[in-house]
Amino acid sequence: MIEFYTEVRLVHVSSVIASGSLFALRGALTLAGSSLPQHPAVRYLSYTIDTVLLTAALMLLSMLHLNPLATPWLATKLVLLLAYIVLGSFALKRARTRNGRAACWVMAMIVLLSMVAIARAKDPLALLRMVVN
Ligand code: HEM
Repeated sequence: MIEFYTEVRLVHVSSVIASGSLFALRGALTLAGSSLPQHPAVRYLSYTIDTVLLTAALMLLSMLHLNPLATPWLATKLVLLLAYIVLGSFALKRARTRNGRAACWVMAMIVLLSMVAIARAKDPLALLRMVVN
């Protein structure tokens, strides 16, 4: 399966971009008072992109023989993924006030960008080093 590494990595990174862009747009529309982000077609599109993203991630783990719990940058990504999912659900639905939704939306975007920085550097402290260096 390793012969498809480049393609699977490209699928993973492309779905990260698609997922992040769709989330940014849904958050902005939610804050503008639109109900479009909760339309079933938009929600199913989001589930589909995230399923492709995670399937490609699992394929990469298997190709590279990586155990995410024994690889600090991957373990950090998993913890941040949970934070992203929770913050995302508050940003798009659960938060009671508009300010609460806005704060969760901004924090979710920061968490997503941290995951990209950590993946690029393969270093769980990538963000900290960017600030300190
Ligand atoms: C929204 C969540 C995620 C984001 C933003 C993200 C982001 C990225 C990015 C940008 C890369 C390319 C890094 C490079 O340039 O070398 C990458 C690669 C990778 N990601 Fe993710 N990822 C996410 C979720 C996951 C998950 C959940 C896993 C599995 C635990 C995972 C496993 C991997 C692996 C194994 C690679 C390939 C590393 C390599 O080529 O050596 N990713 N990810």
